[in-house]
Amino acid sequence: MNPKHKNTILITCSAGLTDYVRREVEDLGYRSGECHKTGIEVEGDFYDAMRLNLYLRTAYNVLFLLKQFKCDGPDELYRNVRNQPWEDIISPQEYVSVVGRVNTEFVGNSMYANLKVKDAIVDRVAGKTGSRPDSGKDKNNVVVQFYWKDDHCWLYLNTSGQKLSDRSYRKIPHKAPLRESLAAAIITATGYDGSEPLVCPMCGSGTLAIEAALIASRRPPGLLRSNYGFMHVKYFDEPGWRQMRIEALKISKIRGGKADFKPARIIATDIDAEAVEAARKNAMTAGVSHLIDFDVCDFADTVIPPGAGTIVMNPEYGLRLGEIEKLQNTYKRIGDFFKQKCSGYTGYIFTGNPALAKKVGLRTSRRFEFFNANIECRLLKYELYPGTKNKT
Ligand SMILES: C[S@@+](CC[C@H](N)C(=O)[O-])C[C@H]1O[C@@H](n2cnc3c(N)ncnc32)[C@H](O)[C@@H]1O
Repeated sequence: MNPKHKNTILITCSAGLTDYVRREVEDLGYRSGECHKTGIEVEGDFYDAMRLNLYLRTAYNVLFLLKQFKCDGPDELYRNVRNQPWEDIISPQEYVSVVGRVNTEFVGNSMYANLKVKDAIVDRVAGKTGSRPDSGKDKNNVVVQFYWKDDHCWLYLNTSGQKLSDRSYRKIPHKAPLRESLAAAIITATGYDGSEPLVCPMCGSGTLAIEAALIASRRPPGLLRSNYGFMHVKYFDEPGWRQMRIEALKISKIRGGKADFKPARIIATDIDAEAVEAARKNAMTAGVSHLIDFDVCDFADTVIPPGAGTIVMNPEYGLRLGEIEKLQNTYKRIGDFFKQKCSGYTGYIFTGNPALAKKVGLRTSRRFEFFNANIECRLLKYELYPGTKNKT
């Protein structure tokens, strides 16, 4: 396969994040194509796929289309997959993992289809080279993905391997951490660009503060990862990848403190000392700890820098009754804190519980829809000017 050959690249994401992915893709200079519920298409070659892996903040996987075909049964699936010149892509020493999504009457479950695809790939490589690649569930090597809908099948190389939201900086997750891609989308939704302070009380393991620091310093999150699916294919251009990383580092304002633009302070606090310790360590792993001031305190005691800025909070939203009763007071206190101490700021609360959100008692100026692990959530925006209106 020629890595300069252009084809469709499908960028997957979680439900509700396609607009954020589209914006990122367009900012990177690509024309966005068809948009699905959990993905967006662009045209590009294998190098574009590598570049997208390096830069995208809100996506899950970058899938490079190998072929699509009409498929009206498992034998047809096997035959078409086996026709692909896998020996040009996968060396027999590699390990292959197959991920399938099946929505067709031709097979009852995706496991059988997965097996067919895996057999076809391995049989083809063995037939051409004399040895069979290993295969299994580990997604740290070559990952082949297919989607079989009705009588049509799309066959992709998953160039990411593991999800891009697993940035690898969060060694200590603590409780109820947000996915990194969701945290990046939340920060993007606030319009934050690093020019004004950002305050994250209730920071937990620090995901919002760390993603904000990566955005403020223009540091592509992909620099943090050392393994991608694309590195395991035969035509992976290692010097080309190294060059791409060097260019990404150059545009990252974080580099050596030589930047002409220094992001404003980011403040992250939590009442739980262990959470703050985890956040601090995670920020160090992400290379952004020098941009974040950490503190252990009740959210209401967080020191707010004077002037304008952004404050983002992700309080627990509780599932059990006892918890919810306790949280009602927390949400009310957040409203008081916003009103009394955060004047001049724009406040945001990310929550999955609308009834609790009402307890804040302030008028929202905007609501952004998100999903967090299938729970419908909202990012609520509050303009906190002096004398902020109570909700009427
Ligand atoms: C849902 S978690 C935040 C998760 C975080 N966004 C992350 O990605 O790791 C809520 C956090 O609020 C903190 N918290 C609860 N009550 C607090 C209070 N009164 N003051 C400050 N932090 C509090 C908890 O310790 C917990 O870390």
